[in-house]
Amino acid sequence: MEAVLKEKKVVIGITGGIAAYKAAELVSSLMKHGARAKVIMTKNATEFISPLTLETLSGNPVYYDMFSRTSPWEIDHISLAKWADVLAVVPATANIIGKVCHGIADDLLTTTIMATQAQVIFAPAMNTNMYKNPIVQENIEALKKKGYIFVSPAEGRLACGDVGEGKLAAIEDILRAITDYFVRKQDLKGIRVLVTAGPTREYLDPVRFISNPSSGKMGFAIAAACASRGAEVELVTGPVRLSPPEGVNMHPVETALEMYERVMKLYPSCHIVFKSAAVSDYRPQAYHEQKIKKDSDRLVLTLVKNPDILKELGRRKKDQILVGFAAETHNVLENAMKKIREKNLDFILANDVTQSGAGFMGDTNKGDLITRVGEIIEIPLLGKNEFAHRMIDEVLKRSPHLAIRKNC
Ligand code: CTP
Repeated sequence: MEAVLKEKKVVIGITGGIAAYKAAELVSSLMKHGARAKVIMTKNATEFISPLTLETLSGNPVYYDMFSRTSPWEIDHISLAKWADVLAVVPATANIIGKVCHGIADDLLTTTIMATQAQVIFAPAMNTNMYKNPIVQENIEALKKKGYIFVSPAEGRLACGDVGEGKLAAIEDILRAITDYFVRKQDLKGIRVLVTAGPTREYLDPVRFISNPSSGKMGFAIAAACASRGAEVELVTGPVRLSPPEGVNMHPVETALEMYERVMKLYPSCHIVFKSAAVSDYRPQAYHEQKIKKDSDRLVLTLVKNPDILKELGRRKKDQILVGFAAETHNVLENAMKKIREKNLDFILANDVTQSGAGFMGDTNKGDLITRVGEIIEIPLLGKNEFAHRMIDEVLKRSPHLAIRKNC
């Protein structure tokens, strides 16, 4: 990352949201990686964080007034627009997204965005209901179609007390999006990747099912990361509340059996499989066509085993690379190693789900990527997007034959 960002000129646009203070961390990280940073703040942003902080971190004056010129012979919004290699709006409010989408340029930041030929990246942060508002979503979609890059917000407890999507993405994910833009890494071009994500649902009757709290975020992040690196991606996903990643073929399924069918169909034409779905190991033996009534005091459920999809992939494996996931609460490495052998895998990502920040519900992950020969690669606590890229980096480093295969 360091080499890629060295001497790159990044303009950070800060708008007026509570997450404005986090932009300071981004500026600091960019500087640490050798980039050059200039900051534009909207008037509202200056209410949340002092320009002095950003000035000190970036080593440059902070621009926030349309009509005060830092040098008498330069018009700031034009010179900043030309200076930028990339312009990142962090955090981006619903207001700035709406304005840019509709061509409004009424302050220094919006005029600079309008005038620049550099790539603009938005990292939205706002209240969940605002973020989900169809007007905001339509604006985001329209801007994406025009080539603007978005770093999706995370889910969690927001400053207003609400819980949901709208929290500014992890700073390392925003940094990664900026780096990716420069690298335009296409190291998966010509490779077909199969990713599974989310939970499965095993129905008892039309209104009840057995499931688990998997959010699908890890699988979606892997799919998005692979697509951004040029892969053709098939994403088989259980029911989740996430928007489809850009450039990915989606295959929504509900039950383990449906996932099994779809995965087996796609498998022969794929080179790598990331099996991150939390598949239900059992399903009710009987499905009741009508809602089960609470007539008796006890209800005994008989469950039968679902097929182990990954194990079957291991059995049918020709030259695919199989990456499994092991969510464990105890004997983590031991159990994960056992799964590598039993399922004929090349890699397994072992998660100790008892540790905070790891596992299938949050926006971060940490774990050990274990190879077939027992090498253990520790991946530290990172935002799930950055985590996905790290994991892909490690898998590719150890799979030189992929380069040959993609030319076949
Ligand atoms: N898996 C699968 N099909 C299943 C169960 C699991 O494909 N019916 C895959 C998961 O997607 C994951 C890996 O197998 O990549 C390990 O899943 P995990 O739930 O950790 O372990 P299990 O194999 O189910 O074993 P156990 O629950 O006993 O730990």
